[in-house]
Amino acid sequence: MDLKSKAVSLFRSSFGAEPAVVTRAPGRIEFIGNHTDYNAGTVLGAAIDRGITIAARLRTDGAFAFVSDNGAPTTTVRGRPLTPQQGGAAWVNYPLGVVVALEGRGMPAVAGLEMAVVSDLPPGAGLSSSAAFELSTALALCALQEFTLSREEVVKAGREAENKFVGVPCGILDQGVSGFGKKDSLVHIDCRGPVFSLVPMPAGVRFWIFNTHKKHALVDSLYATRHKECMDAARLLKPSKPGAQWLADFSPAEFAAAAAALPAAAAKRAKHVIEEIARVDAMGQALKSGNLAEAGRLLFASHESSRTLFENSTPELDFLVATLRGVPGVYGSRLTGGGFGGAVMAMTDASFDATAAARVADAYAAKFTDRPDVLACATADGAAVV
Ligand code: GLA
Repeated sequence: MDLKSKAVSLFRSSFGAEPAVVTRAPGRIEFIGNHTDYNAGTVLGAAIDRGITIAARLRTDGAFAFVSDNGAPTTTVRGRPLTPQQGGAAWVNYPLGVVVALEGRGMPAVAGLEMAVVSDLPPGAGLSSSAAFELSTALALCALQEFTLSREEVVKAGREAENKFVGVPCGILDQGVSGFGKKDSLVHIDCRGPVFSLVPMPAGVRFWIFNTHKKHALVDSLYATRHKECMDAARLLKPSKPGAQWLADFSPAEFAAAAAALPAAAAKRAKHVIEEIARVDAMGQALKSGNLAEAGRLLFASHESSRTLFENSTPELDFLVATLRGVPGVYGSRLTGGGFGGAVMAMTDASFDATAAARVADAYAAKFTDRPDVLACATADGAAVV
């Protein structure tokens, strides 16, 4: 059954009625630009052919009821103001946060909601199931409430839900790519605007995800720590360049000249971010000229910088990237997303197939005992009513 039929059937069996709208939003691969987004840098990502589909309708009794196919407990929230839920109910903070963010943008108050959620995105793989949930919710609410909002604002509302309601200080990458994705393209985001544009993907390129299923228990607080380290580093660097505010305001050369002002850890984080932004620019050039060998080199360089400078990799992710480096048909590979566990992505040509991918998984299993999930991903269009 396709995801739309699944969502409609879950809605019917849960709420005994037909949904009024069905929407879908994709997950994303962070192609290159690791932890650059909240530093006002640039980043490239791709929406993928996996995502979250929701079926929804309004109700009038003040209740917000959510059901999911992923084993999360069916959850009903009543009463205003909407406040973040705890424990097993915390999964509904994504849609609740979107309700609050859209109402803050002038959408008429929602008097109640029923929603069925289905997904073919593995959670915890760094493929942004949360952004897909936020974007599919936002489009559903806009349709149900007949509220018109630009795509930029829909994307910003998704990020606001995550920042303010869920409490993760993420940048605009995940929501931006889920909102602006296009088949056969990468989404380029200049996060300062933010300004979204599309970069054509050279023909014949394939993406693979190797999901380790292992994530650091403190992943959210580690992300917040890195965020703070970057803000502190920018503050300490500012005096060296008039008008500078963000790490993205420094070129690698300007940073090198001013780095002595930073404590050792802050200097490593800042160096990663500033050089990663330069790699995003170099990637744009490499893709434009069809130089996939150079594109692959940049992916490996990004991972190496995550491993040694930003310190958001893990032995499992490092092993996968090192293994993929020697395999014919692999252009490049790196951890994708926030890090501290999750998944690596690989960019390959068509000669790298499921058998080659299984060999990489075998090598991993021989070392770490469990097997990573292997997903072949195609690029896909962004969030939409379906
Ligand atoms: C997570 C966040 C993004 C971005 C990446 C790291 O995916 O949600 O905003 O910061 O980590 O690049």
